[in-house]
Amino acid sequence: MGDGRLLEILAKRKPSWMYIGIEIHNDQCIQARSRITLPNVLIINGSFEDIVPTFLNESIDEFIVVLPDPTYIDQKKEEQWKPFYNSLYLKLKKQGRLQLVTELTDELLEPVSDDQYSVWANWLKSCFVSLGFSLMCQHDGAPRQYISRCIEQFRGDPKRIRMITLNLVKK
Ligand SMILES: C[S@@+](CC[C@H](N)C(=O)[O-])C[C@H]1O[C@@H](n2cnc3c(N)ncnc32)[C@H](O)[C@@H]1O
Repeated sequence: MGDGRLLEILAKRKPSWMYIGIEIHNDQCIQARSRITLPNVLIINGSFEDIVPTFLNESIDEFIVVLPDPTYIDQKKEEQWKPFYNSLYLKLKKQGRLQLVTELTDELLEPVSDDQYSVWANWLKSCFVSLGFSLMCQHDGAPRQYISRCIEQFRGDPKRIRMITLNLVKK
């Protein structure tokens, strides 16, 4: 969730939906709680690895994962993070959605070429397809209306930090 700016935008847009923001750092949760007073937002301080498994299976309409820490999406750590997304899959209702916004950077922080980006995007999609998701659509960059500290920072360096948005659905 970070500081919860995006969570607030989303929750204002759909007041009949309940939104749960998860963040491991308490200072971010304090910031978010001090600003967000919406009745449809619950902020939980903890690790999503501990919290998501406590949700009932097939109870969640959508997970929105925006710029997860590399530990939870890095290509070299695939075997470590895949079980987490598998548990997230189980918690989604049938036809439930996962929106993932993530980024590719070059190890030497050189600009990311179109080829590198396309190979990486194909690998990323294949990971989620292997978990049982179908790809509804994908976009370069983060959704235009999304604002967060990290998204704004990454948008400032689009050649070296290339974001992608995958909209996935549980089959
Ligand atoms: C790159 S930031 C993105 C934050 C936010 N989504 C944004 O766009 O500004 C990653 C966030 O994930 C949090 N985080 C890292 N590991 C976590 C975990 N296991 N459970 C919950 N939050 C975690 C970090 O504290 C940080 O706020």
